Amino acid sequence: MSGKRVKVMLVDDNMTTLLMGKNTLQPYYEVYPIPSAQKLFEILDNVTPEMILLDVEMPEMNGYEVMRKLKQDLRLADIPVIFLTSQNDEGSELKGLSLGAIDYVSKPFSPPLLLKRIENHLLMASQKKELKNYNDNLQEMVRYKTAEVVDLKNVVLTTLSELVEFRDGATGGHISRTQEYLSLLVAQLAEKNLYQEDLLFWDLNIVFPSSQLHDVGKIAISDVILNKPGKLTAEEFEEMKKHTLYGVEAIERIERRTKEHDFLKHAKLFALSHHEKWNGTGYPKGLKEMEIPLQGRLMALADVYDALLSERPYKKPFTREETEHIILEGRGTHFDPALVDVFFEMSDAFATVASNKEYDTPTRVTTKR
Ligand SMILES: [Fe+2]
Repeated sequence: MSGKRVKVMLVDDNMTTLLMGKNTLQPYYEVYPIPSAQKLFEILDNVTPEMILLDVEMPEMNGYEVMRKLKQDLRLADIPVIFLTSQNDEGSELKGLSLGAIDYVSKPFSPPLLLKRIENHLLMASQKKELKNYNDNLQEMVRYKTAEVVDLKNVVLTTLSELVEFRDGATGGHISRTQEYLSLLVAQLAEKNLYQEDLLFWDLNIVFPSSQLHDVGKIAISDVILNKPGKLTAEEFEEMKKHTLYGVEAIERIERRTKEHDFLKHAKLFALSHHEKWNGTGYPKGLKEMEIPLQGRLMALADVYDALLSERPYKKPFTREETEHIILEGRGTHFDPALVDVFFEMSDAFATVASNKEYDTPTRVTTKR
């Protein structure tokens, strides 16, 4: 470390020390000889040095107090400080070091030794700074790359889910809207401390995007059934029911090729259980009440609410009143009663999402971070 651009402040009330220090350091550093603590802080308002050499015994504010004050100021806390101690300051070295000084030099100092100490500490400080910058950059790069990967994954997922959705004859936006409905329900559940035993373990940045795959199994259902304008025959309905199981199969195929199991675990539960009903008359397994995973209970409500309000090949959209009436009728039969109650507390927010045309844009990506 050399060159006059490196600023070293020397603080001592003893003029002889100041003068000697200044003469020693001046050929190598930009030296600030400073006679008092008060003067030091005045100068620090405008100049940030690379190092401070600080006398312990000074009138008014001594070296320890200066040290404490430096450490309390975020801008100044990292400036390396070397204490200048007199031989009769017993224990002052230890006290200085424990307050955060990086070293001490006994007075009267030997000029070559003082210079060597300063050089070593400046080198260490600059290496520490470089390492910190390197770490910060690395962390920033990892954050950026992770965000890129998450974005890409969500775009692929959304696009895949939309392709399935379009085959279903839906007008678009179902995937985005259902995620919004889920997030409204979950927010209100959290507010009321309901189902915390599940929600506490959920990373919502994973759970909401994973819900997009709930109908992915429809890819394996024929167009004739998916887009049939009238009622499905019993046989056709049996085939239609299988989209839940086909969905799980598709997700399991992904699962075998990746390590990201948490996302896929949630996705499978959404796909498998979103057509189960609270009273056990749903499909594919006929699960009942709390046997149905919370993912399925939530999606059942969000999915039906959105389907009722949307136009489909076989039906006109229902009005908000009709839709809410059907949801209420399904309380405790189709839907989890606690979720229906939470829904009615949020029904205005649901209606706002339902009427927001922005969700109809097919390329909308609902990345949440
Ligand atoms: Fe479905």
